[in-house]
Amino acid sequence: MQESVPIPVVGLLPDTQTASLLLSPKTKLQLTFGIPVHTPASDELLIKVHTDALNPIDWKIQDHGFFFTEKDYPLTLGCDVAGEVVGMGEGVDRERWKVGDRVISQAMPSTPRRGAFQQYMCFPADVIAKIPQSMTYAEASTLPLAFATAAVGLLAPEPIGAGLSPDLEVVRSEDQERKGQTALVLGGSSSVGQYDRNQVAFDELQEEIFKILLESSDVNSRDVDIVYDAVSTPQSQEAGFACLSPSGSRKGTLITVLPLCESLTSAMAANDSEKEFSKRAFLVYAGVLAPTSHREFGRKMMRRLEEWLESGEIRPNKPVVLPNGLNGIEEGLERLRRGEVSGEKLVVFPQNTH
Ligand SMILES: NC(=O)c1ccc[n+]([C@@H]2O[C@H](COP(=O)([O-])OP(=O)(O)OC[C@H]3O[C@@H](n4cnc5c(N)ncnc54)[C@H](OP(=O)(O)O)[C@@H]3O)[C@@H](O)[C@H]2O)c1
Repeated sequence: MQESVPIPVVGLLPDTQTASLLLSPKTKLQLTFGIPVHTPASDELLIKVHTDALNPIDWKIQDHGFFFTEKDYPLTLGCDVAGEVVGMGEGVDRERWKVGDRVISQAMPSTPRRGAFQQYMCFPADVIAKIPQSMTYAEASTLPLAFATAAVGLLAPEPIGAGLSPDLEVVRSEDQERKGQTALVLGGSSSVGQYDRNQVAFDELQEEIFKILLESSDVNSRDVDIVYDAVSTPQSQEAGFACLSPSGSRKGTLITVLPLCESLTSAMAANDSEKEFSKRAFLVYAGVLAPTSHREFGRKMMRRLEEWLESGEIRPNKPVVLPNGLNGIEEGLERLRRGEVSGEKLVVFPQNTH
C-alpha cells in the first residue's frame, strides 16, 4: 500500500505517542513511550484515539496467544476505537471526510498502526463510521466490535451471516417471508447480545417475535428459526441447536460467537452427507477488513450504522470509565477475565495516560 503524507494539522499533531504493547505472549501489557505517530496509507484515516473499549478477545490473546506467532510481536491489542480524524491518506474521499470528524472504528492488532491501545491509530476510511454530536466518545467506543458481531451474524448474506437483511434494509411486518418466524438470543446481557436485541428490534415484526421469545420459558419448543448464541459454551450451543426448527421454509440456524463445539462439528459433518438436513450452525466472524465479502458488508454496515445512531434505532452500551488512561487496561482485562462485567462496557481514555 502506498504511503502518503497526512494532512498537516499544525500545532496539534505530536511526532510521538504512547501505546500499551504486548511485547511477548502471556505477559502483561507494557506502557511504551516515544512511538512515532503513524503515517496513514493512501486509503486510511489517522485517528486521535479518545476512548478504547475492552473486549474478551484482548485478554484471550494475552493469555493464549491466539492468532499470532512469536514473530508478530509486539502487538497493539484492542478492537474498539472512538476518536477524532486528525489526518488522512491522499486517496481518501475529501467530500466525505474532514479533519475533526468524530468517528468510531474497529481496530486490529495485526499491524502496529491498527491496534486500539495507543493514542493515535490508522484504519481504512471505507469501514469507519461518523457518530452523532450528541454521543460521547465513551459511549461510541462500546459499539464497533460488538455491533458488528451481531450485525454480520444476523443480517449479512449467507454464508458469512444468516442473511436476514443483506442490504441492511428494514424488514417490514407485512413481509410474507418473515411471517411466523422466530428468533432467540442466548446471553442477551452480553455486549454482543445487546446489539442482537437492538437488531431484532429494529423492525416491528422481529420486535414482536423477540418479545414472545423473551417471555417464553420453553426453549426446547423446537420451533425457533434463528438462535444467536452470544455465550457459546458447549452447553449453550447444544441447547440452542436443540431448539432450532427441524423443518420450515428457512434452515434452522444457530449462530455462535466461539468455535463450534465437538458435538455440533460432528453434526455438521453428518449434515453434509444428508442433503435434506434442515439445521445449520456457524461461527460468526466480526472483522470488517477481510475477506472481500466481509469488507463489502462492513462498508455498507458502517454507513447504515451512522443512520441508525442518528435515528436512535441502535443505541450504545453503557460505558464504565477506568482511571489512568492506558494504565487502566490491565485492571479492566482482569475484570473481564474473571467474568465480572455484565451489561456494560469498560473503556479507557488513552489521551489521559501519564
Ligand atoms: N466471533 C467473533 O467475531 C466475536 C466477536 C466479539 C466477541 N466474541 C465473543 O463473544 C463473547 C461475548 O463477548 P462480549 O463482548 O459480548 O462479552 P461480555 O459483554 O463481556 O459478556 C459477558 C456477558 O456474558 C454473559 N454470560 C457469560 N456466561 C454466561 C452463561 N453461561 N449464560 C448466560 N450468560 C452468560 C454474562 O451474563 P451475566 O450478566 O449473567 O453476568 C455477561 O453479561 C466472548 O466470548 C467473545 O470472545 C466473538
